[in-house]
Amino acid sequence: MKKVTVRVPATTANLGPGFDAFGCALSLYTDVTFEETDSGLEITGCDEAYTGPDNLAYTAYCAVLESLSEQVRGVKIHIDAHIPIGRGLGSSAALLVAGAMGANVLRGNKLSTQGLLNITNAMEGHPDNLAPAFFGGLTASMVDNGLPVCVNFPLHPDWEFLALIPDFELSTSFARSVLPAQLPRADAVYNIAHGALVLKALELGDEKLLRNAMQDRLHQPYRKNLITDYDAIEALVRTTGAAFCVSGAGPTLLCITLDERLEEKLAKKLPQITKANWQMLPLHIEFEGAKVICAE
Ligand code: HSE
Repeated sequence: MKKVTVRVPATTANLGPGFDAFGCALSLYTDVTFEETDSGLEITGCDEAYTGPDNLAYTAYCAVLESLSEQVRGVKIHIDAHIPIGRGLGSSAALLVAGAMGANVLRGNKLSTQGLLNITNAMEGHPDNLAPAFFGGLTASMVDNGLPVCVNFPLHPDWEFLALIPDFELSTSFARSVLPAQLPRADAVYNIAHGALVLKALELGDEKLLRNAMQDRLHQPYRKNLITDYDAIEALVRTTGAAFCVSGAGPTLLCITLDERLEEKLAKKLPQITKANWQMLPLHIEFEGAKVICAE
């Protein structure tokens, strides 16, 4: 095989209290095509700033070949990204997953998905976006002895996700730099308890329980100051009964509800309470993880 296209879903990490642990795959995708050539690297379909050898799809591609002790030959990479960059919807994880899968498929599928997850987790530093990008659905992950252990959790199929995506980016490294290194024990207990109940509420389709459980003391209180009009938007969403959290490191804000009319309810009021432009993007759960959509 010479050419392969991998489709990877967007992911929302943390889901409130599950910092660096919980994640869910969503119905928005990045497709990446890899074609082996005789020499050189060519990357198309993205901003020129991302066409060098530090492109995440390429670095993951090379890392997989290295772990197989195989030579990196020339490769053409074409990126068709629908996951917005720097918005907390797993665009970086999607590129890492695509690169790892692309290399593995082109060289005969020698590594398992867990093997690809181990390699990409060492690059990303936390598995909460990678796990749902590989496996689909809702995942919780831990890192044990340096290796990610990820499990899927049951998820009620009727949830609607409404992503509020602003017109500004927030870098994950900056959003992590504002977090305290240590927390009071009461806050740790708060997050453990709320995290467990978030998983149960998502399984049951219990919106009231989710709304109450999806609260956090580990990262959101420190990050909300980086997100324009966070408090006003949270207050507005809470009047609708939907659950609310920061998607990943932000700045996208995520509403989770059973109400199919949530977007309609927010459409008029949201622009009135904020200075930024927020795109409202309705999304569904993606139960399938990354997959090959074309191979030649
Ligand atoms: N768990 C990560 C964070 C997700 O919140 O920083 C973003 O990569």
